[in-house]
Amino acid sequence: MSPFLLTRTLPVDATEASLRADVLAGLSRRPRTLPPKWFYDTRGSELFEEITRLPEYYPTRAEREILVAHAADIATASGARTLIELGSGSSEKTRHLLDALPRLHSYVPVDVSESALTGAAEALLAERPELNVHALIADFTGGLALPGTPGPRLVAFLGGTIGNLLPEERATFLRSVRSILSPGDALLLGTDLVKEPATLVAAYDDASGVTAAFNKNVLEVVNRALDADFDPADFDHVARWDSDAEWIEMRLRARSALTVKIHELDLVVSFEEGEELRTEVSAKFRRDRVREELGDAGLRLDQWWTDTAGRFAVSLATAV
Ligand code: SAH
Ligand code: TRP
Repeated sequence: MSPFLLTRTLPVDATEASLRADVLAGLSRRPRTLPPKWFYDTRGSELFEEITRLPEYYPTRAEREILVAHAADIATASGARTLIELGSGSSEKTRHLLDALPRLHSYVPVDVSESALTGAAEALLAERPELNVHALIADFTGGLALPGTPGPRLVAFLGGTIGNLLPEERATFLRSVRSILSPGDALLLGTDLVKEPATLVAAYDDASGVTAAFNKNVLEVVNRALDADFDPADFDHVARWDSDAEWIEMRLRARSALTVKIHELDLVVSFEEGEELRTEVSAKFRRDRVREELGDAGLRLDQWWTDTAGRFAVSLATAV
């Protein structure tokens, strides 16, 4: 069996320090916010996998359809020897790419969720014992220390996760991706597309309540890490389409006036009845916007594929 390496570029205490800073900043101002990377503890990663199987959550199926249809085109265009995947999660859809890349030497999944990375690596190596898997526990918005594996490199960022970054964060992120691409390397980007609001809202507020549980799980993460006393039952899950920003906003709305103690921060936060805490945005895109944002980061949109229903797009871009 080839080696499976797990590298932690995100020290445990750094994670804790950055969670403290995020919670302090996000909860001591109004409107209250929490950044989305804290959703993904072990439970959060499991709940996300459940979301991907919900009838209402079309993005995973739509993106898989595109990857299946165009894996060979992607392989020919990139000729990749190293596949780097940012926010890889279960690496479920990535199998279609791995199967199509004949010259692949290494797969480098990058995620903040250690449980997702080890689960994905185990499943992949059971089927493909010859694959070099070098998993990185890292924040993809920080500088990435990538292993010295052979090029060309294909950097994949799937699942529409780019939409979870705010516009300025996206610009910074795309420039940092541009900076790790050498001539011959490429970026494969998955973006969910603007569509009928009812379809979008249903995808983020499913009938069986899995997305609500996922959203509330962030409160459990804060409880555990910072000795806080959030009661998830005190909050309602809200998913709202913002037609100006063209994003879905996920919020948690206090069912009554309440206070929460965050012992580790010596912080008491009060919520008024109906007050909302924003936990995530999920931006939806149009082709021109993707082209423009890539262009601003020094990347050229070379290919654009959508599923047959036109719900989701996968783009291939190279450095200019
Ligand atoms: N690519 C998978 C998973 C998408 S969910 C799919 O398409 O189904 C988003 C993933 O990104 C999760 O696995 C989460 O743990 C990871 N993630 C979120 N923010 C991150 C960050 N700042 N750095 C690294 N990984 C992050
Ligand atoms: N990257 C996913 C998306 O934007 C994350 C996600 C799906 C999500 N459903 C969610 C985040 C519900 C918070 C709540 O589609």
